[in-house]
Amino acid sequence: MKVLVTGGAGFIGSHTTIELIAQKHDVLIIDNFSNSSLEVIRRIEKISKKTCEFLNMDIRETSKLIAVFEKFVPDCVIHFAGLKSVGDSIIFPLDYYDNNFLGSLSLLKAMDASGCKKIIYSSSATVYGEPKYVPLDEKHPCEPVNPYGKTKLFVEEMLKDWATSKDKNSAIILRYFNPVGAHSSGLLGEDPLGVPNNLMPIIADVAIGKLPHINIYGNDYSTRDGTGERDYVHVVDLAQAHVAAVKKVSQRDFDVFNIGTGSGTTVLELIEEFKKASGKKISTNFVNRRMGDVAISIASVEKAKDELSWSAVKDIKDMSSDAWRWKIQNMTE
Ligand code: NAD
Ligand code: WQD
Repeated sequence: MKVLVTGGAGFIGSHTTIELIAQKHDVLIIDNFSNSSLEVIRRIEKISKKTCEFLNMDIRETSKLIAVFEKFVPDCVIHFAGLKSVGDSIIFPLDYYDNNFLGSLSLLKAMDASGCKKIIYSSSATVYGEPKYVPLDEKHPCEPVNPYGKTKLFVEEMLKDWATSKDKNSAIILRYFNPVGAHSSGLLGEDPLGVPNNLMPIIADVAIGKLPHINIYGNDYSTRDGTGERDYVHVVDLAQAHVAAVKKVSQRDFDVFNIGTGSGTTVLELIEEFKKASGKKISTNFVNRRMGDVAISIASVEKAKDELSWSAVKDIKDMSSDAWRWKIQNMTE
């Protein structure tokens, strides 16, 4: 299939591109490189041993985008492009509505103008808000508590309306839980700008000596050891979930799938695993809970297993050792 990948130079998009090429799909990446670099394209080519077609452009440039769709004529779009920091979205909400919502609107306009009818969308477990029960299934109410999560939910709603508006339009929403890890080659991984916000990249920075210690946000949650529990999913498993969704999208009008492992790991457990993977000391410091955090977030993964024939196979040992390999092979100041 011809697959147009927005945000394909990013963390999840680059790993997905590798898996798509491995399955013989013909890929075109569109990325404005606001949170990635051309080096990622070079590395995709190194791993896949194929030329990686890409365009340096913003998905909000609708007329240029229509011209790209008319030339490439994709069968399907995988839409990763967007901003993803919960904290920034609270400070700069309009940037999030502009990029995430208007970017997605522009993309759908280009799809309509060129007759492209299938899309897979990167959503997030953050759309659920405070869990009323765990594991979270896809029927759990969606009540996001920050602007980032709202943009994700609003785009889901727009996709639902778009998918039902015309007979052959199809959209699959993938709600990722906590993507971590890196490609086993050590050539691709998560490369956040500045000081990272997410747990795994912070642990890696402490292990390598870039940060002095990790602040653990709260030790009084009702979990096994009092620290927050999350469903971490390896980015390569996640990438393969997209390939599975591409296969199924034309059989659906609109559908939503959780993408996780179905099991939880606490902050202390992840630190222990990372210590083993890296052989390094990781200093910790308990501080107050972080505003907006929930105690436990774990996916119900039955629907993805039954209907996409996809399940995660990698565990937190793989996630930690791959993230560590990526870190030591790509040390930056
Ligand atoms: P990322 O920042 O690494 O990748 C996003 C890519 O999109 C970057 O390469 C960036 O340069 C590009 N981009 C941003 N705005 C663009 C625009 N207007 N036009 C063209 N390109 C643009 O992020 P990621 O971790 O790979 O996340 C990908 C998607 O998955 C995002 O939509 C994010 O909201 C969603 N998601 C991520 C996580 C996570 O923890 N990483 C969890 C749930 C959902
Ligand atoms: C995990 C656990 C923290 C940092 C976020 C977004 C979500 C999705 C994934 C995009 C929590 C604890 C963290 C630290 C800590 N992204 N922690 N010290 O918050 O579950 O999810 O990323 O869609 O939308 O909200 O992930 O990695 O930030 O935190 O103790 O320095 O680690 O309290 O329990 P989170 P995270």
